[in-house]
Amino acid sequence: MSAPESFPADLYQTLADFQQTHLLKWWNDLNDTEQSQLLTQLQAINFAQIQRLYAPGETAQKSESPAQKAERATRPATVVRLEERNTSPAKSEKATEQGRKLLEAGRVGAILVAGGQGSRLGFSHPKGMYPIGPVKQTSLFQILVEQLRARARQAGKPISYFIMTSDATHDETVDYFQQHQNFGMSSDDLHFFKQGTMPAVDAESGQILLEEKKRIAVSPDGHGGMLAALKNNGMFDVMREKGIDTLYYHQVDNPTAIVCDPEFLGYHQNAQADVSVKVVSKRSPDEKMGIVCDVDQKTQIIEYSDLPDDIAAQTDDDGNLLHWAGSTAIHIFNRDFLEQIANDDARLPFHQANKKVPHIDESGRQVTPEVPNAIKFERFIFDVLPEAETVLVYEIDRSREFNPVKNAEGQDSPQTAHEALNRIFSGWLQSCGVTLPADATVEISPLFAVDETELKQKISADAQFTSPLYLGE
Ligand code: UTP
Repeated sequence: MSAPESFPADLYQTLADFQQTHLLKWWNDLNDTEQSQLLTQLQAINFAQIQRLYAPGETAQKSESPAQKAERATRPATVVRLEERNTSPAKSEKATEQGRKLLEAGRVGAILVAGGQGSRLGFSHPKGMYPIGPVKQTSLFQILVEQLRARARQAGKPISYFIMTSDATHDETVDYFQQHQNFGMSSDDLHFFKQGTMPAVDAESGQILLEEKKRIAVSPDGHGGMLAALKNNGMFDVMREKGIDTLYYHQVDNPTAIVCDPEFLGYHQNAQADVSVKVVSKRSPDEKMGIVCDVDQKTQIIEYSDLPDDIAAQTDDDGNLLHWAGSTAIHIFNRDFLEQIANDDARLPFHQANKKVPHIDESGRQVTPEVPNAIKFERFIFDVLPEAETVLVYEIDRSREFNPVKNAEGQDSPQTAHEALNRIFSGWLQSCGVTLPADATVEISPLFAVDETELKQKISADAQFTSPLYLGE
């Protein structure tokens, strides 16, 4: 195929060099706007990088596979176990106090990653809009924002929220916040920033797929795309100007995450860690969670799909899982540390994922694959861990803090998250001495009480409630 007349010659040469000229097959059928949109997409693609990432054997041969690495995995060095916290309350209280001081000094910002496509859930809007509150169907976004506001109120200092979106979620997310007056947050404290995209390639040929004649099939570049996105959108500058040096990272799918948990912040500071990670004890060797371990004295996360079964099943002398620490993807990062890595783009690797990607074929017909046909390239934020001098691994109570919405049904679904919220709120009321009917449905806005301690200050034991019960601002 020769270069279309209206197409830049140098870019055509690049496409030819990387065997991607098929992307222009329908160029002459497109109108001016469509041509310009396709051109913008093409100009944003690093074709050499795509070729390097696709070339399967080459990179794999050069570097050690995660499964090989897992052979040398040991338990992480710097750990705070849940039992230790429960049995030494004085230490935990001290950490909480320290964390509070960080919040009161305005040194903490929160990062929410909400750019994912949420394909397993199959909800037709950004996942953060999913109604999850047991009584009011409060959305994931609202629950998390209200927690942040409650925490800021406690600290007497605003906490900035840095919310990562993607092409897949940006417009709807921003509209949704606007329609709801930012759920009460001042727009000075709310920063949306959009992550980048990567094209999907045909798994067999490495050719970039066209979603339509005028559009390349692209998807968000993974939660690890956050680093480049923070940098490219000037977010590190905003943080510096605001005096924020500690970043509380969490995902949009977990409504029971304790946003800006003071105790965790305190332990992070005490450990002088660059990164901290909240973990839970894995339920079974084959539970689908990334494990946190040390390899060659570097703390890191090995994905469940990369962990050989026999290593996942290893136990210690007491019969406990050797690799017990499952990552919840709740982190604290020091801003300086993240910025350093963001300044050197090559430091965070890309991973390949085999996915079903709808596209058009050579004759322009729409194809909706039933089996994975394509490779998507994604970066994972947890790949920054081995770059850190010290990583604190901090165990939490799963039933209280880790109830993600991943699937439409079954485990980690809206139903399990909904039940978890109901169980947590009912438990708080019961610990205040309140008697509830066995099947009570309860929702407590963080603005009424962010935790059990706050609730105790507001509720008397003889309070009478009927179900469903909503306690709001
Ligand atoms: P998941 O890995 O669970 O992906 O994201 P997902 O997109 O929500 O769901 P599936 O895999 O398509 O079913 C974990 C967190 O990382 C964010 C998500 O929004 C979620 O908060 N994420 C993921 C991004 O912000 N960008 C991405 O490119 C991928």
